[in-house]
Amino acid sequence: MALTLTRPDDFHLHLRDGDVLADLVPPVAERFSRALVMPNLTPPVTTVAAAGEYRERILAATPAGVDFTPLMTLYLTETMAASEIKKATASDFIHAAKLYPAGATTNSSAGVRDVGAITHLFEAMQDAGLVLAIHGELANPSLDPYEREPRFVDEVLAPLVERFASLRIVLEHVSTQHAVDFVTQAGPNVAATITAHHLLCSRRALFAGGLSPHHYCRPILQTEADREALIAAATSGNPKFFLGSDSAPHPRDKKESGHAAAGIYTGYAALELYAQAFAEAGALGRLENFASRFGADFYGLEPNSAEVTLEETSWQPPAEYPLGQQTVVPLGAGESLRYRLRP
Ligand code: DOR
Ligand code: ZN
Repeated sequence: MALTLTRPDDFHLHLRDGDVLADLVPPVAERFSRALVMPNLTPPVTTVAAAGEYRERILAATPAGVDFTPLMTLYLTETMAASEIKKATASDFIHAAKLYPAGATTNSSAGVRDVGAITHLFEAMQDAGLVLAIHGELANPSLDPYEREPRFVDEVLAPLVERFASLRIVLEHVSTQHAVDFVTQAGPNVAATITAHHLLCSRRALFAGGLSPHHYCRPILQTEADREALIAAATSGNPKFFLGSDSAPHPRDKKESGHAAAGIYTGYAALELYAQAFAEAGALGRLENFASRFGADFYGLEPNSAEVTLEETSWQPPAEYPLGQQTVVPLGAGESLRYRLRP
């Protein structure tokens, strides 16, 4: 059976920079019309000018004839001036600013230690209508890793939502029932993205057959009950929940290391992985709104008009994909996927 959808958008993606763009951009551009590109490069993308240059490098790596638009983001820091937010809003290519709690994840050390220190930026974003995208974890190393998202929701997000009542907020890559419940009960200005890996895997995958660094990401995979809550949210038809893959490739040796880097690579077949999760839940009919409609609506973008088709046919992803001079192990290596993009 084939499934034809309006071309989807990915509202949370890591494309990295440099020679790996040539490996990472084409499979995304083939599937998605637009992608919100994360700014956690080294150094991070903290100015509109740097975001514009990064955008040009992504476009240069986009295959000719493919209609793909990178939507850029700014990395919020405690030293950023409110004028940068105004500049971002005046640009036609910056669609969100990202809050990384310092120390919470990959390349977050330049992030925010105290959200009280960026009140001026939240105010500017609320005034200008720029979306705040949040990595929702407390970074305190003494905290239990499984508690970081729930505690962030209660201690940082809830007060923020209360104080900035019309700021549009996306809680990125929700991983727990607690976060789903918070977003569900919040007003229409608060939404969430859900990754394919959090829909397909629980923390069981981290330990199945020996410790698996290729299943290590932030926020960490949680319990089966949490995964079921994410499936329920993604397939609910509630427009607050939409697609953001958080495909986050790291070279194989950075993953298979004594200190494995956080991040799971799904960008080679992200749409197929989502289709698999929706099919397993008996909810394929709900995929199109989740993947192609709700995110665009939240971000105030026109819906796409072109289409993509997935064919139901079993195939095995390769054990690794090229990543510049190195390789990356994809989610699903050694397993069978159920859908394949029609070229
Ligand atoms: O697992 C993750 N990897 N989570 C993030 O938030 C960042 C990402 C990365 O950039 O590798
Ligand atoms: Zn991410």
